[in-house]
Amino acid sequence: MAHEPFPVGLTCLSRAESFRDPGTNLHERRVILLIEMVANRLGIPPEISYRIGQASLLHDIGKIAVPVDLLQKSTPLTAEESALIRTHCRRGYDILHWNADALLQLASEIALHHHERHDGTGYPDGIAGDDIPLPCRVVSVCDAYDALRQDRPYRRGLSHEQAMNVPVARRRADVAPAFRPRGALGIREPQ
Ligand SMILES: [Fe+2]
Repeated sequence: MAHEPFPVGLTCLSRAESFRDPGTNLHERRVILLIEMVANRLGIPPEISYRIGQASLLHDIGKIAVPVDLLQKSTPLTAEESALIRTHCRRGYDILHWNADALLQLASEIALHHHERHDGTGYPDGIAGDDIPLPCRVVSVCDAYDALRQDRPYRRGLSHEQAMNVPVARRRADVAPAFRPRGALGIREPQ
């Protein structure tokens, strides 16, 4: 059995998620690999970056409260369906924020705010700029990069170069984080 650098409780929950929604679970694990690059670019100490990576393992766990056929839908989502998927941030917070453990506190914060945008156009709270906790900003950039690289029913995944240009060229909340891409510049093509 491979060693995982996570507390066993988080690993169990992650494994349960992987049986229900393997795509989301793989996404979360790819994001962890990107976090170190972005955090390093931002001068975040390695031990803090490691902690952010651990805490981001379950950043989409709230999707277990969303019907799986909606998560895997291949046709455009209705406004109602999009709103339902967006509830995953609050649901993830509710799942993870149940005691004072520092890692769970950080994990719940990341689950809640990883879709916020620098310009305040994100969700669920629409907070902006430095009001968004730094770990959540780091995860948001990595989350958006990984999403852009993946094939979707309505488009092919972008190349590394294309994905790196999106945060500058397009600030639409549905495709890119509206963050200055300073941290994103640390992303290298995953092997
Ligand atoms: Fe998410």
